[in-house]
Amino acid sequence: MSVLLIKDLSIHHKSETLVQSVSFEIEEGEWYALIGQSGSGKSLTAFAIGQLLSKQFSFSGSISLNSQSLFDFSKKERRKIRGRDISYIFQDYTSSFTPFYTIGKHFDEYIKTHLSLSKPKRIAMAISAMEAVNLEGERVYKSYSFQMSGGQLQRAAIALAMLLKPKLLIADEPTTALDSVTSKHILELIQKMREETKCAVLFITHDLRLVRKYADYISVMKEGVIVESNTKKEIMDAPKHPYTVQLLSAIPTISDQALALENVEVVH
Ligand SMILES: Nc1ncnc2c1ncn2[C@@H]1O[C@H](COP(=O)(O)OP(=O)(O)OP(=O)(O)O)[C@@H](O)[C@H]1O
Ligand SMILES: [Mg+2]
Repeated sequence: MSVLLIKDLSIHHKSETLVQSVSFEIEEGEWYALIGQSGSGKSLTAFAIGQLLSKQFSFSGSISLNSQSLFDFSKKERRKIRGRDISYIFQDYTSSFTPFYTIGKHFDEYIKTHLSLSKPKRIAMAISAMEAVNLEGERVYKSYSFQMSGGQLQRAAIALAMLLKPKLLIADEPTTALDSVTSKHILELIQKMREETKCAVLFITHDLRLVRKYADYISVMKEGVIVESNTKKEIMDAPKHPYTVQLLSAIPTISDQALALENVEVVH
């Protein structure tokens, strides 16, 4: 069954059409990659799903979650859906936390909105989610965002997004701020959650090596339009649109990487 169904979505801002007639579908447990040039409308599409775009934007088309149109819900219902059914790991992870509350308070408010648990249980749940992303739970719980590094904050944002095991996880460049070891750990966590809970993943990235490793299905965007959609195998082995061909030719092969390493000068 499809978890997310987007049909003919167009997004306009003033007289400009920024996203045009985008359609795709994500099945339960599927890892769906949305790739393409910077400014092609990937994040706007992701924001539109959770209806996170301001009033300056207008839409046409439809977005359904588990066969229910998201446009039919009230503002209050939509807030409930975000977190419980759809959760985000944003490209700009700093927007997940205000500097006025501790990280723990953010987790606590999030849990309180969706579950009725006692305070000690909420704290234990938050700390264990933080530890799953290799953060020092007790310390981070009491910290403010400005007391943490960018990578730590991103991990906290990821823990928050995965906390309630959503049906759809939207990850927009989730590992940009992370070193390669932490990044691998986070991706493995998303992979594990997908296997355990069958959640659907919408993954937006410029890192085509990650797409090659994790994605089941790929859509390629250019200038607000999806130019090609297919299984990973079809796109990787036999891309049809010239832009996809151009994009894929930029992925370094193993021999290119070995060559690059050979050419690295080691300074002692
Ligand atoms: N708040 C906004 N107001 C006006 N235009 C916007 C706004 N946000 C994005 N845009 C425009 O919409 C287009 C698509 O932006 P979007 O952020 O979706 O790109 P993207 O594909 O996510 O790019 P990137 O890979 O760089 O993150 C761009 O031309 C951008 O300038
Ligand atoms: Mg973006």
